[in-house]
Amino acid sequence: MVITANEIAFEETPFIQGTVGASENRLNWRAKKLLSDNQALIRNRRILDIASNDGRFSHACLKLGAKHVHGVEGRRKHVNEANQYFSELGHPVSEYQFDVGDIFDFLTKCEPGQFDTILCFGFLYHTIRQVEMFQEFQRLMPENIILDSYVHPQRKWIRWMRTMWRFRPKHLRPDRLKQLVQTTEGDVILQVAMEDATKDGSSIVSGGTPVREIEKSYGAMAMNFHPTAAALERLADYHGFEIQTIRWRDSMIRDWASLDDYRTERRVSYILSPRAGSGLKGTGVADRQASVRQNVTEKSQSYRAVDSVSSAGIGGSVGKL
Ligand SMILES: C[S@@+](CC[C@H](N)C(=O)[O-])C[C@H]1O[C@@H](n2cnc3c(N)ncnc32)[C@H](O)[C@@H]1O
Repeated sequence: MVITANEIAFEETPFIQGTVGASENRLNWRAKKLLSDNQALIRNRRILDIASNDGRFSHACLKLGAKHVHGVEGRRKHVNEANQYFSELGHPVSEYQFDVGDIFDFLTKCEPGQFDTILCFGFLYHTIRQVEMFQEFQRLMPENIILDSYVHPQRKWIRWMRTMWRFRPKHLRPDRLKQLVQTTEGDVILQVAMEDATKDGSSIVSGGTPVREIEKSYGAMAMNFHPTAAALERLADYHGFEIQTIRWRDSMIRDWASLDDYRTERRVSYILSPRAGSGLKGTGVADRQASVRQNVTEKSQSYRAVDSVSSAGIGGSVGKL
């Protein structure tokens, strides 16, 4: 990738030593597509970097002129790395802060308007609390959210292939079963999956339960919901956000090394901004609630949970999204 004026060259940084998706090509293109191409959302803005890992994208934001970056990351070792790298790179300490902790605990303590832009990269498939995250987005009223996430595939033939793949004997352990949740019309909106919580880059909690408690019943496996792109879009829309899709395949990428998830749309990226008339930005709670009520009436749809691989199923209605 040839780096131009407002783009970030990660090969010149310590972040390429990272343990989570840290190849140069991947970091450079993610920084370009998610941040440099949207520099107006970064320059002079107060940024929240959700699941900041070693601070890679907080660094990119400061290089692009952010006023301040605040990273929150569940693993202490990554926060230590971020602080060390930022000091090596010469970022003024007044321009950044990294906290160790569960992002949901952090978000509930934040005030509306505290952040101008929220980065939510590589996190929404490491939790079962997607709805709470969108409720927090709605409450915090940032000007923009840049969202980047792995998604469960929607195309039926891909789902069928993956279901067959799951029937391999090693996947028939109960804690390995992956289940799907679908709408009453049959559209899959979530995959329920278990992942090894001891690995770098994985979930640190399940429904607020610390990993050490999960370990008692599941070893170190954490439960995650993998939303489809349609589910993410529905959640954003329902919570009053307008959605702009960042198109990866229309871009000038020649070398897709380490970017296959973007090429195959197993990973999607969006810019979310409060919808005009949604009452989200700078208006009162009553207005917001009225707009949400209207949305619910227009769009509400009930969902049922089905088990794609075991006849037991995961049971009845999961309510409305
Ligand atoms: C796949 S990495 C994404 C890192 C970075 N945002 C990126 O896109 O490259 C997921 C990160 O989320 C962190 N994490 C997982 N669950 C978390 C939670 N509940 N609160 C805060 N961080 C969490 C992990 O430790 C890991 O660093």
